[in-house]
Amino acid sequence: MVSRSSISRIHVVGGAGRDDQHISSGAVDGHSCPHPCVFCRWRRVNIPTLTTGRLVLRPICREDLDASTAIWSDAEFGRYVGNHDRHSMWHNLAANIGAWELEGAGSWSVVERAAGALVGRAGLWYEPGWPGIELVWFIGRPWWGRGYAPEAARASGTWAFANHGVNRLVAIPHRDNQQSIRVAEKLGMTFERYETLHETDSAIYTITRAEWEARTGG
Ligand SMILES: CC(C)(COP(=O)(O)OP(=O)(O)OC[C@H]1O[C@@H](n2cnc3c(N)ncnc32)[C@H](O)[C@@H]1OP(=O)(O)O)[C@@H](O)C(=O)NCCC(=O)NCCS
Repeated sequence: MVSRSSISRIHVVGGAGRDDQHISSGAVDGHSCPHPCVFCRWRRVNIPTLTTGRLVLRPICREDLDASTAIWSDAEFGRYVGNHDRHSMWHNLAANIGAWELEGAGSWSVVERAAGALVGRAGLWYEPGWPGIELVWFIGRPWWGRGYAPEAARASGTWAFANHGVNRLVAIPHRDNQQSIRVAEKLGMTFERYETLHETDSAIYTITRAEWEARTGG
């Protein structure tokens, strides 16, 4: 079942920069990081957690660093999306969780419910000038071929349509990334055009709200 909780802001009491600044309510409410970290109470955005049949999509947390580095340092995984060592992975995690604050949408760490293993990341990406709110998916190589990416993408797309006033979502795989294009097709997305984005030859796939709801039952 997909949680439809929307993003809510936690009010900070006290002026900016004042020593007495503190969080007025339980700042970790809704934060389902399995290992709450020292600074979690300073988070301002309440990122929801989504649950699917086999997966949990939960907020990225700093304890994801090593498992994420293991996934993103694999050459085959990075063929179209690039690789990360531990240092650049930390920056990548920070950017992805920061997107929630900047844009009100972002991606989640994807965890197997059965084994509790971090298997990848999925969710939403939007940045100024982007062709639309993008569905993104990254699954580590040991877990390829189990349908995890479409399962996670269905949950995040349903959350996006329920919580944002957009009428379509896009996917933007590299034009040669057949595995990712296959995921877009499984979601019912259709090819729209090729476009060069950040110097990458990308294929833009789209799905409208009406098409999504017809496939998922609303
Ligand atoms: C693209 C990606 C997310 C797909 O995740 P997934 O959970 O394996 O998705 P699926 O199980 O639905 O498989 C999708 C397709 O990948 C291909 N595939 C599956 N297992 C594979 C394997 N072991 N090796 C190569 N291709 C494989 C198949 O064509 C499959 O389609 P099919 O089910 O119709 O046969 C994953 O391959 C990945 O993270 N790749 C690296 C990062 C990336 O490119 N992300 C997309 C950015 S736009």
